Amino acid sequence: MQGLLITFEGTEGAGKTTQIERLSCRLGEMGYQVRTVREPGGTPLGEEIRTLLKHHPAGRGMSSEAELLLMNASRAELVRKVIRPALDAGEIVLCDRFYDSTVVYQGHGRGLDLEQVERSIAFAVGTTIPDLTLVLQVPLAVSEARRAARLGLGSEPADRFDEAGREFFVRVERAFEDLLHRHPDRMHAVDAVDTVEAVQRSVWSWVEPLLPSA
Ligand code: TMP
Repeated sequence: MQGLLITFEGTEGAGKTTQIERLSCRLGEMGYQVRTVREPGGTPLGEEIRTLLKHHPAGRGMSSEAELLLMNASRAELVRKVIRPALDAGEIVLCDRFYDSTVVYQGHGRGLDLEQVERSIAFAVGTTIPDLTLVLQVPLAVSEARRAARLGLGSEPADRFDEAGREFFVRVERAFEDLLHRHPDRMHAVDAVDTVEAVQRSVWSWVEPLLPSA
């Protein structure tokens, strides 16, 4: 039996990681085999690429084109080494960001040609398309405040994406809205301003109907 691929998207500080952890626990308790991965990253090669993209001095000032290709290099490896084998083994794969982030950040955010962005994604993923994509949404002011708090606490070092200006994140926010309209069957918005428990219930309401019997 083929597994399920569920991806989580949204702006910074929307609480994706917490929700993925909680969902993973719940599914595990119900007896499902769950695999949690993140992008960029999720394989030894992908994690090295993640460092290049986010923190490495060599990545400073990288071109948007190189950024697009590195995101897709990490993704191509993740799809072939982890996601497809897990799906073939009937597992539920929870992915912290996937190719919608590339459309949004490299396409709309950086302003790369959308057709080329989509072609590069298609090359990286082939036929591996999520069964469900949840876009966790918080207003930009909330996202900014949560990001600032995280950086202030030192729990996360600032990365190259933190340096993008407010306009970039406005475009990112609008692009997620646009994608939600273009893919109403696969993608759904989740209001992530609420308490962690309320968001968890909302996430569950989309996931539960897709579950095969454990
Ligand atoms: P995060 O895992 O902490 O969310 O960091 C990943 C960063 O990379 C985040 O700022 C969004 C960005 N990103 C892209 O620009 N394009 C992509 O395709 C992906 C997966 C992430």
